[in-house]
Amino acid sequence: MNYFQELILKRESCRKFNEKPVSKKDLETIIEAARLAPSACNGQPWHFIAVTNDELKKSLSSHMQPFNAKAGAFIVIIQEKTNITSSIGGKIKHQDYAQMDIGIVTSYLSLAATSLGISNCILGWFDESKVKETLKIPKKKRVRLILSLGYTDDKDVRTKLRKDISEIVDYID
Ligand SMILES: Cc1cc2nc3c(=O)[nH]c(=O)nc-3n(C[C@H](O)[C@H](O)[C@H](O)COP(=O)(O)O)c2cc1C
Repeated sequence: MNYFQELILKRESCRKFNEKPVSKKDLETIIEAARLAPSACNGQPWHFIAVTNDELKKSLSSHMQPFNAKAGAFIVIIQEKTNITSSIGGKIKHQDYAQMDIGIVTSYLSLAATSLGISNCILGWFDESKVKETLKIPKKKRVRLILSLGYTDDKDVRTKLRKDISEIVDYID
C-alpha cells in the first residue's frame, strides 16, 4: 500500500477529542497544504480562520455538536469571491465552482492534518450566524465548513462504511 492509500484509510471523522492543543506550526503546515489545492480557474475562493484561543474555542464550540468542545483547534472555512473567469464559467455551465473548490480545499486540510497525526472532523452542522458573530466575520460572508482538529485516545481506525464499488462506477473499455 502506498503512502496516499494509507493516509486515506487512516483519515476518519473524529468525534472524541481529548483536549490536547494543536500547535501553531502544525496549523501552518496544514494551511500551506490547503493553499496548494486546485480550484476552478485557480480562483482560490477561500479564507481560513484558525482558532486556538481557549475562550474563542469554547464560544465557537457552543455553536456546534457537543463533541467539538474538546477539540484542540478549529479552522473556519469562509467562501470568498472567486475570479471573474470561474464566476462567468460557472454561470455559463450552471455550476457552482466556488462551492466545489471549498469542498476540495477542505479535503486537503483534513488529509494534511491526518498526515501529521492530527484527528479531525469536517463540520457542516453549526450555527453559522453565531459563528460569524463570535469571530466578527461580516454577515454577508458564508462560512461553508469548519474543520475541528485535535487528538484522540482512540487507537483503532473504524471500518469505513461505504457503498459497494459496483454501485459507484461504470468502466467503459
Ligand atoms: C461536507 C461535510 C459535512 C459534514 N458535517 C459533519 C458534521 O456537521 N458533524 C459530524 O459529526 N460529521 C460531519 N461530517 C462527517 C461525515 O459524517 C463523515 O465524513 C462520513 O460519515 C464518513 O465517515 P468518516 O469521515 O469517518 O470516514 C461531514 C462531512 C462532510 C464531507
